[in-house]
Amino acid sequence: MSSILTDGTLAVTVNGMRFPNPFVIGSGPPSTNAVVIGKAFAAGWGGVVAKTTALTDTPVVNVQPRYGKLNTPAGETIGFQNIELISDRPFEDWEADFRKVKAEWPDRILIGSIMECYDKARWQELASRCFAAGCDALELNFSCPHGHPETGMGAAMGQNPAMVQEVTSWVVQVAGGKPVWAKMTPNITDIRVPARAAKAGGAHGVAAINTILSTVGINLKTLRPTPTVEGHSTFGGYSYRAVKPIALRMVGEIATDQPGFTISGIGGVCSSTDAIEFLLMGASTVQSCTGPMLQGFEMVTELGEGLAAFLKQHGFATVQEAIGKSLPYFTTHHHLVELQAAKKAAKAAELANRDTEWGKTNFVAEAGQLVSHKE
Ligand SMILES: Cc1cc2nc3c(=O)[nH]c(=O)nc-3n(C[C@H](O)[C@H](O)[C@H](O)COP(=O)(O)O)c2cc1C
Repeated sequence: MSSILTDGTLAVTVNGMRFPNPFVIGSGPPSTNAVVIGKAFAAGWGGVVAKTTALTDTPVVNVQPRYGKLNTPAGETIGFQNIELISDRPFEDWEADFRKVKAEWPDRILIGSIMECYDKARWQELASRCFAAGCDALELNFSCPHGHPETGMGAAMGQNPAMVQEVTSWVVQVAGGKPVWAKMTPNITDIRVPARAAKAGGAHGVAAINTILSTVGINLKTLRPTPTVEGHSTFGGYSYRAVKPIALRMVGEIATDQPGFTISGIGGVCSSTDAIEFLLMGASTVQSCTGPMLQGFEMVTELGEGLAAFLKQHGFATVQEAIGKSLPYFTTHHHLVELQAAKKAAKAAELANRDTEWGKTNFVAEAGQLVSHKE
């Protein structure tokens, strides 16, 4: 493990939690039990959002295959689709795992991820038991786009701002002041609306984004969509490199709309460049899920080294200093046109002052332009 990941150089404190570095495993296969979470921490990740869990009697039946890739003609994977559900493990096993992980890795941040049906008692029981088992914070999964929305869970809740606010407030009531982040679905017209609802419900922050509803391809021989299960498929969640531009835009929209509100950026982080871009857009931690699935947990070494070099290059003393630094450079298209017109006018005025330019238009008018008192 690179020492830069834990020696304090990249440390960032978010909602009172000290992350040794801002790199967090996103909820999914790289956080699906204590063994893989331990491997992530051993590699140097600063935090982990555990695979989403529900109370044990919530039915979770996965199918195989459940992943699909989008490759370039050169064979590089740029997009990834999954139709995986939340964790199929009993919640009691998760409680044991949370205790074990926190005992072994006290300096790392462990965030539980929970999803339930629209039932206050169930959300509150799940949240209370996660905190009692040692979770430092909770992420509320309002965003899984496949499977669970068919029964009103996941993205079905995230697309309903009133529900986001109400369910968030239920969890905040039992959180005892510990941080609660709401995970946003990108499958919505304006992501600022559910982010505002989460804040109104008492959330300390949001994670953005979950996967984008998609179908990764169709087999032209069989006419069957992929991933194909018994000849059929269902729309699933798109992730990895290809989604980064959309995720960055959504993080930027939330950051601009709610200055100071915590954002954990996620979507397509494959390298330190990607991670730094999320920080510059206003995220204070950066998650990656498909990245470690395809590149291994060791990818965090390059994330750390790249971020440290970037901070040094720009004279930022801490990660905190870089957060949101690119936001002031976003404006409206109308303003871009104005800026361009102003630049053109300034250039024309500058040219008019040069002797070589004399006589190109109306000589008398050119001379008149240089008169200071025109009364
Ligand atoms: C196979 C797979 C399973 C996932 N399972 C979950 C999950 O259980 N809960 C959750 O909140 N997000 C889940 N996600 C979404 C990721 O946490 C993340 O939001 C999304 O994939 C975009 O980030 P990425 O491009 O870094 O993967 C899953 C993603 C993948 C690829």
